[in-house]
Amino acid sequence: MAIERTLSILKPDATRRNLTGSINKVFEEAGLSILAQKRIQLTRAEAEAFYAVHKERGFFNDLVGYMISGPVVAQVLSGENAVAKNRELMGATDPKKATEGTIRAMFAESIEANSVHGSDSAENAKNEISFFFAEIDIVG
Ligand code: CMP
Repeated sequence: MAIERTLSILKPDATRRNLTGSINKVFEEAGLSILAQKRIQLTRAEAEAFYAVHKERGFFNDLVGYMISGPVVAQVLSGENAVAKNRELMGATDPKKATEGTIRAMFAESIEANSVHGSDSAENAKNEISFFFAEIDIVG
């Protein structure tokens, strides 16, 4: 299976509760390596640009407001089948529907404050990684 990269974001509810280490432990124990990581405060314009695909959705303004409510940690994860593996580790968007043992089942507070974001395809991963990181920042 191919070694892939995917973009992960630890959301403001996770940084606020000091869950960075606990969530990173889940990634690393599942065989995903963290090749790049930075803690940042997104601006409104940046959050709107990152989530532009959702701009017609009713929850867009709340989502943007939430994502700028505190620091986030953007990360590049790498490993076999990393895009699908990360989505499996995260669990369903709505923590009430997330399988036991997944990050969202363990840590998420709500469908909005759901602790993590992960790219949903290899193509989106490439775009999302380049949104946050230059190639020189990613150390394999
Ligand atoms: P994420 O994977 O970051 O991608 C879009 C985000 O919108 C999603 O996680 C949720 O946190 C957020 N969101 C808020 N409300 C909803 C909703 N009703 N349906 C889907 N996603 C929602």
